[in-house]
Amino acid sequence: MRRYLIAGNWKMHGSKASVKDLTETVISLTFNYPNVDMVVLPSYVHLTQVHHLITNSYISIGAQNLYLGNEGAFTGEVSGPMLADIGCSYVLVGHSERRQYFHETNELVAKKFKVAITANLTPILCVGETLDERNQGKTEEVITAQIHAVLKEIDISAFKSAVIAYEPVWAIGTGQTATPVQAQEVHEFIRKLLHKNNVDIASTIRILYGGSMKPENAGDLLAMSDVDGGLIGGASLKAESFAQICQTANHLASMSGHKACRIG
Ligand code: PGA
Repeated sequence: MRRYLIAGNWKMHGSKASVKDLTETVISLTFNYPNVDMVVLPSYVHLTQVHHLITNSYISIGAQNLYLGNEGAFTGEVSGPMLADIGCSYVLVGHSERRQYFHETNELVAKKFKVAITANLTPILCVGETLDERNQGKTEEVITAQIHAVLKEIDISAFKSAVIAYEPVWAIGTGQTATPVQAQEVHEFIRKLLHKNNVDIASTIRILYGGSMKPENAGDLLAMSDVDGGLIGGASLKAESFAQICQTANHLASMSGHKACRIG
């Protein structure tokens, strides 16, 4: 059984006041959704503030990035143990904005994934193709390389404590969403890829969709058999939109009892 996970990636947004307001409103709007796991991913500077606010709520907290090692002379960077120490449970690794603007390679992302696991954080490994790559029919090749780089760095068993997010780069922040069928195709492909390495992990790992998910399209995307949640950017900055997506997931889960797995 895979529980839905709805994650809000707040990116480089917010002030002390707006983050307080957003967090408190999300908590009050989502307290009644027992069938869905929820996590917010504020910027580093707001993590402690949000962590205090979510104590005694159903919301978890995670970071958007981390660096290698436990500590050291890496000015401006933050380590996995530091994030765990201040109460983070999750961390994004390999978000396409990090790959694109900060030149993170598959190999660096794989190392970050390993560091997250070692620090007892749940990595949310982001994978996805650009528009060019999709147009050239390279979607599966790109995603295979992104996942294989991680499997080269760490054993498949580590994926037991991980989440994957399929985020087609052309759908992020563009308002252009993958259709439910396009998302399902890639999610199913990812599950089959993992299935070759470990059957149990392939059937239990949560694969989120990310890329302009919003209340209007969340129901159709989340209803797909291999879509286990969402990584929400823009729509997570409005508490009402984020809560509506959580409500949709909660409703779908209560209708179906659990999500069937079609692998095997
Ligand atoms: P978006 O961002 O929902 O604004 O497209 C998703 C993400 O980057 O994780």
